[in-house]
Amino acid sequence: MKDPFGRQINYLRISVTDRCDLRCRYCMPEQGIAVKSHDEILSYEEILTFVEMSTNFGINKVRLTGGEPLVRKGIVDFVARINQIPGIKEIGLTTNARKLAPNAKALKEAGLKSINISLDTLDPEKYRYITRWGDLNDVLHGIDQALKVGFDKVKINAVLMKGFNDHEILDLVNLAKDKPVDVRFIELMGIGQANELASEYLSTTEIMTHIPGLRKASDDNLINAGPADYYPLEGYQGRIGFISALSNCFCGTCNRLRLTSDGKLMPCLHSKIEVNVRPYLKEKDLDGLRDAIHGAIELKPSGHKLSNGKQVSDDGRYMSQIGG
Ligand code: GTP
Ligand code: 5AD
Ligand code: SF4
Repeated sequence: MKDPFGRQINYLRISVTDRCDLRCRYCMPEQGIAVKSHDEILSYEEILTFVEMSTNFGINKVRLTGGEPLVRKGIVDFVARINQIPGIKEIGLTTNARKLAPNAKALKEAGLKSINISLDTLDPEKYRYITRWGDLNDVLHGIDQALKVGFDKVKINAVLMKGFNDHEILDLVNLAKDKPVDVRFIELMGIGQANELASEYLSTTEIMTHIPGLRKASDDNLINAGPADYYPLEGYQGRIGFISALSNCFCGTCNRLRLTSDGKLMPCLHSKIEVNVRPYLKEKDLDGLRDAIHGAIELKPSGHKLSNGKQVSDDGRYMSQIGG
């Protein structure tokens, strides 16, 4: 279905849990945030009902997010069940990779196609600092396992912060030389905990000045279904991507809906607008559910109003409650 601005909505991001086993400084406070109790979050059965219904609106791609999706029990079987839904062509997962190595093979066998891995620094001390207790080796091992089992796409997400990891741009770029991974630099968005870090924002233009040899790819390469613009580098196995949510907002081509773990359907990451679909799923009211999804797409705003330090997200939630 198209939204009121003519954008075809085909991509559903599902936050399967608001819990996370790390506490990245731009995402959550150290003590964490109040998490939903188990009976407040949607069961896998309920999410499957939602996904099935969403295919009637043209959803054909699903990405599982969190919190951290790999902390929810039964996630591998859940992937397998989504994979059986007619109409779903691609399933991805965004993870901090702490638990990826032991699960990579099973996830691949369950039908997962693409993995996006958060990795902001290659310095073990800095990694521990930014995540508050993470071990860099878990992530590096997770990346290697993901490549070994043969996922179609493995992408690295690096949020750059001035004074923290901007001197590591080339080290991160080199990951794409050594391994067939796309490395994506993400502009820090003012949402939740990140609102306190506005002075650390780095724009894509600034980031690019540190990367020699970047050539604007042909138009074909720049057109993709996601928020990143990709640039190939001579002699590299993977590409370099830029997610310029602030400096070059991609709202005009947004194709997404988000389902939170407590059953709120969000037509936009940065808007307060949400439609509570939990009651329809609890009561198995499929007509109500259909109308609710239709209503949420109708309510999709044209875009966000973020600009560095001046305007923050309208959404009062933390990133970990929405899944990015
Ligand atoms: P694929 O295109 O499926 O690879 O997904 P993705 O790159 O959108 O997903 P991922 O979960 O890896 O998110 C990467 C970054 O993009 C995160 O910082 C997200 O918050 C951000 N992002 C993803 N979708 C949107 C969006 O619709 N709007 C905005 N503003 N940011 C988004
Ligand atoms: N701005 C940009 N990206 C963010 N992420 C989390 N918080 C922010 C933020 N404030 C990224 C994570 C992860 C993805 C889901 O979202 O690094 O890779
Ligand atoms: Fe889509 Fe909202 Fe993200 Fe813009 S901010 S790309 S409209 S989800």
